[in-house]
Amino acid sequence: MKPQAEINPLANLDEWEDDLLRRYPDPEAIANEKSVEEYRNYDNPQRDTVKEFYRLNHTYQTYDFVKQKQKDYLAFNRKEMPIWDAFTFLNQLVDDSDPDTDLDQLQHLLQTSEAIRRDGHPDWFVLVGLVHDMGKVLCLFGEPQWAVVGDTFPVGCAHSDKIVFPEFFSANPDHANPQYNTKHGIYKPNCGLRNVDMSWGHDEYVYQMMKDYIPEPGLYMLRYHSFYAQHREHAYEHLLDDHDREMFKWVNLFNPYDLYSKNPNPPDWKELKPYYEDLVAKYLPATLKF
Ligand SMILES: [Fe+2]
Ligand SMILES: [Fe+2]
Repeated sequence: MKPQAEINPLANLDEWEDDLLRRYPDPEAIANEKSVEEYRNYDNPQRDTVKEFYRLNHTYQTYDFVKQKQKDYLAFNRKEMPIWDAFTFLNQLVDDSDPDTDLDQLQHLLQTSEAIRRDGHPDWFVLVGLVHDMGKVLCLFGEPQWAVVGDTFPVGCAHSDKIVFPEFFSANPDHANPQYNTKHGIYKPNCGLRNVDMSWGHDEYVYQMMKDYIPEPGLYMLRYHSFYAQHREHAYEHLLDDHDREMFKWVNLFNPYDLYSKNPNPPDWKELKPYYEDLVAKYLPATLKF
């Protein structure tokens, strides 16, 4: 048996998101409080666990691995429950390294959705904020962290050097496979992302769960919110079609709500509950299949 740190190096899933903030700091927070240098202070112990996390992610997320996980999880035959039970379930993912300062998963979801609501966006967009990280329940089904969170990327074609820690892809078997290691790999130029398989994680899983219930721009936000190599770095333009480019405007609109809405004050769930109960009832069935 491998020691836990070799399977799940992060003390909690939020360490990945904290690291995203170092890579893509909030322009407003920089103006108001800290210098970019302070945000980009890579010299800390958490950075090492994040690095190890990406080493595992880049080594093991192969085309075959993704196909196998799709087959396994997209049958949705594990559990059926109302969304409210799913939030309770998700909240079992607590951070034991620093219970005082970190908010639970539902609070991150509510801070995201409330920030979207405050800006007057359509209600389905608010719902996207509420559910966007529900796929993290994969951890509770026994998946390692590197198969749940982290930046996502296409499999079946060359890994872009714009993906964080690109050097770790040299250990990925697909990297040496001539079928998969050319610019387009198994795909045709500009074939559209609907024809492209992404590394496996909470984005694809929640997209597949929600695909019959939420308008398409919201589905793009769910499916590609961790695809930083495209929505921030534009490294996969050669796989996108015109429709993707249109829809990625929405992905870009969503990203700051996810990254920059975190704050230490927990939202007042009691007060918010009636609004969200109505919202969920408007779009989603009484129970969801996991
Ligand atoms: Fe996420
Ligand atoms: Fe998130």
